[in-house]
Amino acid sequence: MTTTLMRLFAGETLATPPIWLMRQAGRYLPEYRETRGKAGSFLDLCFNTELATEVTLQPIRRFGFDASILFSDILVVPHAMGQKVWFEEGEGPRLEQIETAEALRQRPLRFDLDRLSPVIRTVERLRRELPAETTLIGFCGAPWTVASYMIAGKGTADQAPARLVAYRDPDFLSAMIDQLVDASIVYLKAQLAAGAEVVQIFESFASALTPGGLERWSIEPIRRIITGVKASYPASKVIVFARGAAGVLGQYATITGADGFGIDWGADLAQTVRQLPDTIVSQGNLDPLALVAGGEALDNGVKAMLAVARSRRHILNLGHGIVPQTPIAHVERMMTLVRGRAV
Ligand code: CP3
Repeated sequence: MTTTLMRLFAGETLATPPIWLMRQAGRYLPEYRETRGKAGSFLDLCFNTELATEVTLQPIRRFGFDASILFSDILVVPHAMGQKVWFEEGEGPRLEQIETAEALRQRPLRFDLDRLSPVIRTVERLRRELPAETTLIGFCGAPWTVASYMIAGKGTADQAPARLVAYRDPDFLSAMIDQLVDASIVYLKAQLAAGAEVVQIFESFASALTPGGLERWSIEPIRRIITGVKASYPASKVIVFARGAAGVLGQYATITGADGFGIDWGADLAQTVRQLPDTIVSQGNLDPLALVAGGEALDNGVKAMLAVARSRRHILNLGHGIVPQTPIAHVERMMTLVRGRAV
């Protein structure tokens, strides 16, 4: 027996479309907050195999989603390259900044997969503990998105520090992105070896690139990662979630070799999927705030996704991560609408 998403990727049309949610393990769940409280810092939770397994399984137990995404973060890769990464409570990620070629020379980065062995053990353990039909999804950040954090040292509104570096010192950005491509290939292959069947590449900041920049800093590095991963794992499936790139998904689809594309909430779903060939699976794109609001906003959003899922192979999901103020009852309502019965 294969898992739900793998059947969809293999070309089967499923009577009930599959569903999972980006950031499905998180602060909207009381059981997450409890486990998180035991772990210490957020990174301690990512690197604690037992507790990371537990929080990954929590939304599966509660809602029975079709896929389970490994609990970790895209910033564990710069950590494993030797950059200092931490999370400020209530604020978000912070990194020791590397914004010049000189800074990189003084602080050479070298990816060490051993630093991520607790995460790989979490993947192994999840595959043993998950229901047989639940797909296990691994992930990494796309090089441009991760590099933007490495350069700015934190999240920024418009990724200005990384965009400036792209103009002023493209060779430096290129060197950093090359290292991230190589590291991501090694990391994703280790997740696939440990039992993940699908991997998703998060390009959260595609919106911050010009058309030329998009091709050089996003599409091309993602293509190299997918080529590298598929050389060793030809049966694996890759989903790319490029936020703000719905208008150019056709270009991503032609060049990258991905099997599926996530669509962000700002895009018109029915119109965007028309850019994708039938061979490519689509995913998305309920506005996370429609899930917070509930009522008609939620019902209409779910119905729009279901309509698309009747016309092509589509995975229901949000158009970005679930937010902490999401009422659990609204997630239950969504599952009832999708499955035709209460969870
Ligand atoms: O989807 C999942 O459930 C898997 C786990 C996952 C997390 N982060 C857990 C997390 C995944 C796939 C990510 C990806 C990630 N991390 C992205 C790409 C997707 C996106 O949202 O655009 C990015 C940009 C990051 C970096 C990051 N991590 C930020 C900006 C923050 C702070 C935002 C916040 O909500 O506090 C994090 C922290 C983080 N990553 C949390 C979780 C559950 C919240 C931490 C906590 O419990 O306090």
